[in-house]
Amino acid sequence: MRRRADPPGARAADDLQQPTFIRRLERRDVPRLVRLLATSQPWLRLGYGTADWRRLLGGPLADRDAWVIAEVGRARGIAIVRRTFLAGGYLELLAIEEAARGSGLGARLLEHCENAVLACAPNFFVCVSDFNDGARRFYEGHGYVQVGRLDDLLIPGSAELLLRKTTGPRRDAPSTAGSAPRMSAPRGRGASSRRSTARLR
Ligand SMILES: CC(C)(COP(=O)(O)OP(=O)(O)OC[C@H]1O[C@@H](n2cnc3c(N)ncnc32)[C@H](O)[C@@H]1OP(=O)(O)O)[C@@H](O)C(=O)NCCC(=O)NCCS
Repeated sequence: MRRRADPPGARAADDLQQPTFIRRLERRDVPRLVRLLATSQPWLRLGYGTADWRRLLGGPLADRDAWVIAEVGRARGIAIVRRTFLAGGYLELLAIEEAARGSGLGARLLEHCENAVLACAPNFFVCVSDFNDGARRFYEGHGYVQVGRLDDLLIPGSAELLLRKTTGPRRDAPSTAGSAPRMSAPRGRGASSRRSTARLR
């Protein structure tokens, strides 16, 4: 899981020198983070257990970036970001150790992920369970807006709310001057409007 060719022990020494430090997930973090996640809401209620977390964190994280926030060398939170999702990225997992919640670590980790994604694409998405009031407040406070509701996605009777933070549309509006195609006035549904659509392709 170590992505850079650091000499053995170098990253651990960095962690100890800086009180709070965001770095990539490493193999040594996995047991502690599996414990954190396997004993934490909302995932207990959603039915995720130790085996699920071992499988996720222990295997290769294709097309994803995994970050931890560490204090004095210990991982106290994790974020996993899927790099491509719609016109942006998707925050697949964000969790802070229970004893450290409410002290700003979640905000730091979220901002780190946002900066990485929004530097290259205009959207960052996350799903939050409808019953997870604390996390809903947290994301709202960071400028996320609900753009969808996925009923019964993970467990019956509960919805995942799709939230979005955006810096704007991916493309500028096409110029209307010069070569823009001419549209005929709409004449109702059916064959004639299908022909208009075809002309625009
Ligand atoms: C949501 C979470 C990542 C926020 O990280 P954090 O370090 O606790 O948050 P911060 O200290 O940066 O910000 C505090 C804000 O987070 C929210 N919050 C959510 N759960 C909280 C908790 N257990 N304790 C304190 N704040 C919490 C509150 O809105 C709080 O703001 P407020 O004090 O004005 O109400 C973290 O609480 C957590 O891991 N929760 C459980 C897992 C989870 O729900 N993850 C998100 C799944 S989509």
